[in-house]
Amino acid sequence: MKTNPEKFILDACCGGRQMWFQKKQKNTIFLDIREVEKGSIKLQPNFCIKPDVIGDYRKLSFPDKSFKLVVWDIPHIMGKKINGIIQTKYGYLDKDNYREDLKKGFDEIWRILDDYGVLEFKYADINLPIKDILSLFPQQPLFGTVTKKGVNNTFWVCFMKIPITETETSFNTDLEVPTSSPPKLSPTEITSPNPNIMRSL
Ligand SMILES: C[S@@+](CC[C@H](N)C(=O)[O-])C[C@H]1O[C@@H](n2cnc3c(N)ncnc32)[C@H](O)[C@@H]1O
Repeated sequence: MKTNPEKFILDACCGGRQMWFQKKQKNTIFLDIREVEKGSIKLQPNFCIKPDVIGDYRKLSFPDKSFKLVVWDIPHIMGKKINGIIQTKYGYLDKDNYREDLKKGFDEIWRILDDYGVLEFKYADINLPIKDILSLFPQQPLFGTVTKKGVNNTFWVCFMKIPITETETSFNTDLEVPTSSPPKLSPTEITSPNPNIMRSL
């Protein structure tokens, strides 16, 4: 699917868009694996899931590097089928395959993120600890919710797709490992520091 350049944000698990301040944000594609009609939940008759695109985060139909920002709010209940209000609202993680599914999902989201694109990942760690979920991903978040104190189970973490060449370059310059013994300095060089040494510190 070719993306409209004005649609540079993807909600990869939009559900009922409850967390959105702008439920029809114009730069966003709202994606979910299913639809839910209004009236499906008696206690919340207005709840519905109406994605712009019905799709699966394990296999997204967008070209590489299509989005600047992706938000990924995965289900938190383990299951095998929709059963009850919570699963109608939030779906479920397949209890037999969730590890593979989430690994595929992360790889797909990384693929469709542009360089320097941001992934906001949200997870309510009710069934599984957040660290177990994050350990499935090949990238480490930059920052986010790092403690459970006062969090009420909901964790947000932020990743950025920093191009590999830059990471490697900065890694290499940070680690200037001498390949031979250091040159012997004359007394004047010892008192007036070598400007190149200062620059590399
Ligand atoms: C926690 S809910 C999202 C709630 C939403 N962020 C909100 O603000 O209301 C998770 C959603 O992920 C959807 N989902 C589950 N598996 C999916 C998949 N493989 N691809 C896309 N969406 C999926 C579920 O249908 C469910 O609506």
